[in-house]
Amino acid sequence: MNNQKSSLSLPFSAPPIGEVIADRLSRRTLLKGALASSVLAGLSPLAACATRPSANNSSFPFTFDEIARGIDETHHVPQGYEADILLRWGDALFPDSPPFDPLAQTAAAQERQFGYNNDFIGFIPLDAGDAEARGILCVNHEYTNTALMFPGLGESPKEAMTAATCAAEMAAHGGTLVEIVQRDGRWTPVLDSRFNRRVTATTPMDIHGPAAGHERLKTEADPSGTRVFGTLNNCAGGISSWHSYLMSEENYDSNFLGALPEGHRESDNYHRLGIPAARYAWGKFEKRFDVGVEPNEPNRFGWVVEVDALNPTSIPRKRTALGRFKHEGVENVVARDGRIVVYMGDDEQFQHVYKFVASGHFVPGETGFDSNLLNDGTLYVARFEPDGRVLWLPLIHGEGPLTQANGFLSQADVLIETRRAAQLLGATPMDRPEDIEPHPATGRVYVMLTNNTRRETNQIDAANPRAENNFGHIIEITEPVGDFTATESRWEILIRCGDPASPDFGAMWNPATTDNGWFGSPDNCAIDPAGRLWVATDGNDATGANDGLWAVAIEGDARGTSRAFFRAPIGAEVCGPRFAPDGRTLFLAVQHPGDAGEGTFENPATRWPDFGAAPPRPSVLAIRRSDGGPVGG
Ligand code: FEO
Ligand code: CA
Ligand code: CA
Repeated sequence: MNNQKSSLSLPFSAPPIGEVIADRLSRRTLLKGALASSVLAGLSPLAACATRPSANNSSFPFTFDEIARGIDETHHVPQGYEADILLRWGDALFPDSPPFDPLAQTAAAQERQFGYNNDFIGFIPLDAGDAEARGILCVNHEYTNTALMFPGLGESPKEAMTAATCAAEMAAHGGTLVEIVQRDGRWTPVLDSRFNRRVTATTPMDIHGPAAGHERLKTEADPSGTRVFGTLNNCAGGISSWHSYLMSEENYDSNFLGALPEGHRESDNYHRLGIPAARYAWGKFEKRFDVGVEPNEPNRFGWVVEVDALNPTSIPRKRTALGRFKHEGVENVVARDGRIVVYMGDDEQFQHVYKFVASGHFVPGETGFDSNLLNDGTLYVARFEPDGRVLWLPLIHGEGPLTQANGFLSQADVLIETRRAAQLLGATPMDRPEDIEPHPATGRVYVMLTNNTRRETNQIDAANPRAENNFGHIIEITEPVGDFTATESRWEILIRCGDPASPDFGAMWNPATTDNGWFGSPDNCAIDPAGRLWVATDGNDATGANDGLWAVAIEGDARGTSRAFFRAPIGAEVCGPRFAPDGRTLFLAVQHPGDAGEGTFENPATRWPDFGAAPPRPSVLAIRRSDGGPVGG
């Protein structure tokens, strides 16, 4: 634990943490009761025997002292580890960045500072001197918690927002690219690096791929349909094999308000995506976020955005060939034949798992935008068969139901309405697909299915075997003989999350998993340089403990065993995770600390990481072993 102290002096005091904890514990008791009779119904034989539990756990591939479950105001790492706070919301990114002043936030200041609610973390290595390591850290800023971010908003935060504070929120979205250097073990930002850059909700970016220039993407401000201002709600992402930064646009429905004109052609399209969800006031001041004024603007979001991190003046590109949905995770792998394969989730209840196989071939050593590999290829959606096969169904205009008869006039239409196309093809509706990670050495792919409280008993299937799935599960896909481009793969459930000591939950872990080792709501994940799986959670509070990061065995007798490595402060989810190439630093993002109960700027559930009178600040940690050894042993 390593908390930096703030020099801020603000006139607020911390809330009574005991009250928040008591509230969380009573919620856990309620959950257990509600689930008692429902979750076990209909478990498939395949799912029930998918892991290979064993009492012999000698092959557990991690060595660290597991931390305890719990709820408190700060973060925890195992004994022998240190967690440095590397970047906090509002920290300087440039020599001229203004100091963080949460009482007087402006868009101009935020554009020169680290943004809000850090989610994905990428690391692009750079050449370095003998006694140091360097890289570009790429961090998504998923969204803003209006009530936690701004002071003095009162009972109705959204209504109290002004044009100026909305502009500050837009500047806090997007991403940060910042060079960092490690000397004597510690990482620090390099403020005068030419690579440092903020990407926000107003950064100009080009639209590429089959939907570029389509009439459904044209607006009054952009009659060409090829130039968008900004990216929104960037959740889990990816770093491409050619060292670009891939940002995914997830819950952009939040940012739109108003009402479409009666009978508008996009009504069904937007309804499927929950647009407009009107969680922000932006549309009152910037009319493109009012769908009644600019009905096509939401079609310009929901894509994957590629940023050429090594060319800081380059214009980011929205890659429409990868589909439009609530994108979560964009990790790629190079297949044996040199083609790029990208795995992606659509994070909403009953949505789908996708992969994109590029037409072109990756040239080792190639960087930048020159190849445009993500402009041309085949987008597939997964159907999980009860016999253990995954059928990858291509979303190609003119094939199967994706024709004019169903309203698809071109490939652009298929991509703009990816969800409807996937449903027509018979894709499997999943329990909220979050991050998806291909394992380059084994040909397996790990799919985080975070939870789905709305699945009913008559909606369960082999790959989503629990009704009222409060705790989620992890599916392992095996690509045949390691061929990531395959159109038929195998799947099995690695873990059904939740408390294994509560038989009513239908959880499934290796029996060697301790009471600290199990978790709920898997979200972000990573494969470390040693080929081991790490899983972070968002929603573990439903189990009565804070979110965290767990080390999960995927091989041998220990397969399905999990141990707790990191615990977040109350209200936070854990994101990243990202390992430095030597495996000796783990970068973790702590997102929305203090967002528990009715947390506000004046009364958050924690004031992590600065404490005192400071507001909670989403932050990235650099976690290392005190002796400099590999993280996880
Ligand atoms: Fe932004 Fe799906 O978590
Ligand atoms: Ca996520
Ligand atoms: Ca999340």
